[in-house]
This record gives sequence, C-alpha cells and structure tokens, in this order.
Amino acid sequence: MNKLIIDTDPGVDDSMAIQFALASEEFHIMGITTVFGNVNIEQATINALRLLHLAARPDIPISKGASKPLQGEFLGGVPFVHGNDGQGNTWRPAGPLKPIGVSADEFIIEQVLRFPDQISIAALGPLTNLATALRKEPKIQDKVKEIVFMGGNAFCSGNATPAAEANILSDPDAADMVLGANWPLTMVGLDVTHKTILSRDVLDEIALFRSPSNDHVMEAYQFYQNFFMKVNKIDGTFVHDSSVIAYLIDPGLYKTVVSPVRVETQHGISRGKTWPSLGESDHEGAEVLEPWRNRPKIKICLDVKDRMVIQLIRQRLTR
Ligand code: RIB
Ligand code: CA
Repeated sequence: MNKLIIDTDPGVDDSMAIQFALASEEFHIMGITTVFGNVNIEQATINALRLLHLAARPDIPISKGASKPLQGEFLGGVPFVHGNDGQGNTWRPAGPLKPIGVSADEFIIEQVLRFPDQISIAALGPLTNLATALRKEPKIQDKVKEIVFMGGNAFCSGNATPAAEANILSDPDAADMVLGANWPLTMVGLDVTHKTILSRDVLDEIALFRSPSNDHVMEAYQFYQNFFMKVNKIDGTFVHDSSVIAYLIDPGLYKTVVSPVRVETQHGISRGKTWPSLGESDHEGAEVLEPWRNRPKIKICLDVKDRMVIQLIRQRLTR
C-alpha cells in the first residue's frame, strides 16, 4: 500500500478526491494536511474534519496548515465555485473531530523522515505547506517518495485568470520554490483536467451509492455542477483533484513529458502562469534559457485516457 498524505483546501472537488482515496485499497492514508485556498484555513480544516467524521475515519490525523501565501494575504477564496463554506453551501455541522496539535508542514516533515522513500503526497491546493516544509527541513527532498500536485497549465490557458490556474495563482512564490526543488514531482494540470469530465449521468450514478460521506459530497456537487454549467456550459464538472488520485493509482492513464518549469511570480496579468522550458536546448546549439537552467525537470501530464479515469472514479465511488 502507498503511504499517502493528502494536502488539501476542501473545496468540493477536494472532498470527492478524498473520498476516492479512502475507497482505494492502494492507499494507506497517513494524514490529511489542510491549506487555505478555496476557503480560509479554518473552514478548510472544518471541512476535512467533517468529511472524515462522515466517512467514519477518525483514525486519520488532520493537521492544520498555512492560512496565507508565502507573500501577501489570503484573498478570500472562490465562493462562487465552491460555496461560502467550500462545500456547496451545505453548511453541515462540523462534527466532533479536532485537528492534531502539529502544523501541516511539521507533520509532512515528521512523516517523510520517519518513513524514508515511502511517503507520497497528493497536493490538491496551493503549495504553501510544501514550500514551508521544504524551507524548514530541506532533507525531505531526498526522502519523499513522490509529490503529485493538481495545479498549473503548461500549454493551455488558465482557469482563475487567462494566464493562471487557481492553486498556483494562490501562491506563485511557493509554487516556484516547490517546482525548483530536487524531489520527484508530477504536475497534473489543466492540460489534462480540462480533458476529463465527470458527466451528470455519472454523478447521478455515484449519488445512488448512499453513505453519510457520499451523500454530503454529492449534495455539495450540486452547487459545483451549477458553476460549470454556467461558466463552461458543460453538464458535469472537470475532474481536477481526483485526477491526482487517479494518477497515483495508475500513472499509465497519463502521457507525460519532462521539463523544468518556472512560475511567473511578478504581479501582473501573467502572475501564476507555469512555463515549461522549450526543450533540451531551447535553441539549436544554445544553452537552456537562464530562468530554466539548472532547474530540476518535473513530469508534466499532457494527455489522459479520460474515459478510463472516469471509469476508475465511478468504480471506486460506487462500491
Ligand atoms: O484549479 C482547480 C484547483 O483549484 C482544484 O484543486 C480546486 O479544488 C481548486 O483548489
Ligand atoms: Ca483543491
């Protein structure tokens, strides 16, 4: 079993991704670490605690993380996408669970050093917790098994702005730091999540599988679905965070390339854009351009067997 930490800003799609991971025997979930993003850190943590209570998984520790980006302030989340509570305005009671007394970055450091080369991290929100964990203990670069993150857009437009994907835009400085470290990173960005659509039919089928946690997630999905119908004119939703879980279960579902990636951190219309380099030598015979020179290469998902991803989600969430 893959020892997994889920770093998350729940968020409606985060909640489905957590459900997906809980329903998949490939994972031993070591813990959930929360981060600001779709909502503030307090609400993100309540949402994670509630979900594990509803899923009858009080055994999984939840550790509260960053409340704002490395630089600047929390800008207020995206209530028009995930609801003011981050869970489709379902406003269910928080439940009895409490976070552990260790911060998210300390929990990540502790687990990675305790289980060298065994901990995988699914990062489903801004990369702030990973950045502060790296800054506190650089040794984790060599000890983590892999990090797979939902974020970025290599060769397609953004979703939060024309340039940027939401998780990266929430903390571009953290993203540029994380993407510049020497650890095994895979980017599951809009290049593939915008090619993976969970249709209303499949969502209706998943909703037939009744359980307290599934009922909650599927109720929250109503609000989330309405956003995609209004904005993207799709009868369903893109699969953002659950694509990370699908990749961890079966990386063969994705076609990847490797390249150094930089993040635009300047304040301007392109802030938050993820830029791969052009290739081995950016221009015939010339060296790789300076901003990408000596940067580690990361795996970038560029294509996906989307029908198989949907089948995997459907199979796991209806059993
Ligand atoms: O751009 C999509 C990402 O931003 C997802 O992780 C969603 O939950 C939001 O955090
Ligand atoms: Ca998320």
